[in-house]
Amino acid sequence: MKTVVTISELRSARLELAEPVGLVPTMGYLHEGHLSLAKRAREECASVVATIFINPTQFAPEEDLDSYPRDLDKDLALLEEVGVDLVWMPTPEVMYPENYQTWVTVDELTHVLEGTSRPTHFQGVTTVVAKLFNGVLPQKTYFGQKDAQQVVVIQRMLQDLNFPIEIVVCPIVREPDGLAMSSRNYYLNPEQRQAATVLYRALTAAKEAFEAGEQQAEKLRAIVTNKVNAESLAELEYISCAHPETLIELEGAIEGALLSMAVCVGKTRLIDNIFVGK
Ligand code: PAF
Repeated sequence: MKTVVTISELRSARLELAEPVGLVPTMGYLHEGHLSLAKRAREECASVVATIFINPTQFAPEEDLDSYPRDLDKDLALLEEVGVDLVWMPTPEVMYPENYQTWVTVDELTHVLEGTSRPTHFQGVTTVVAKLFNGVLPQKTYFGQKDAQQVVVIQRMLQDLNFPIEIVVCPIVREPDGLAMSSRNYYLNPEQRQAATVLYRALTAAKEAFEAGEQQAEKLRAIVTNKVNAESLAELEYISCAHPETLIELEGAIEGALLSMAVCVGKTRLIDNIFVGK
């Protein structure tokens, strides 16, 4: 497995890769969720490129950029184990050199859900992902369903900007008790870790209610809200029952939806989601 930092190193290494190339973008501190993306890419592509870059522009000033967990040696060992061919780990200066001025913005889809409390987040994500795509020039890219809105936003960007790249969305990987794997789970102390299971418990309760005949979007949101409110260490930021592609909030009887939520457990902000119905 080769590692590169600069754009020129990347360009030379890219020329050596057999086609098609699959790209797995990450911010490091890898867990089974990331590795499931790399394994899928390994199955489907002749070459696999992973990127490790903690992208400063997707963090607001008060967010956890400085404390975001890092373990580069372990990450590289894990990527090598699953058969990644090339790892691009640019520095902030490589990605955003002096006088950097260009941004990629997806409009309406980024104003809701995560965008409400993180208004600058998705511009950082779409900008860096566009730069990763332009650097690696993959035919396929692998993203996790855990960041459901990120997937919808990247799909929009791919279509709107005519990137010739197929996005493969991989299922959420969960701990045995249902907690969705996330690098931020590392922040939780044992009591908070236990409380964090409420996200999946609440979402599955709503899904079970839907499958038992409860079709009202308001009722499904209420089921999640009540479950989270019953967990004293958890504070619900939002619960959404929205159209899976437009992310527009649904009302009344529904045939299907994306239920997504953000919850703070102590200072740690966690997200999770589940599909119900069609
Ligand atoms: O999902 C992530 O880890 C990040 O948002 C991504 C896609 C690597 C961009 O920095």
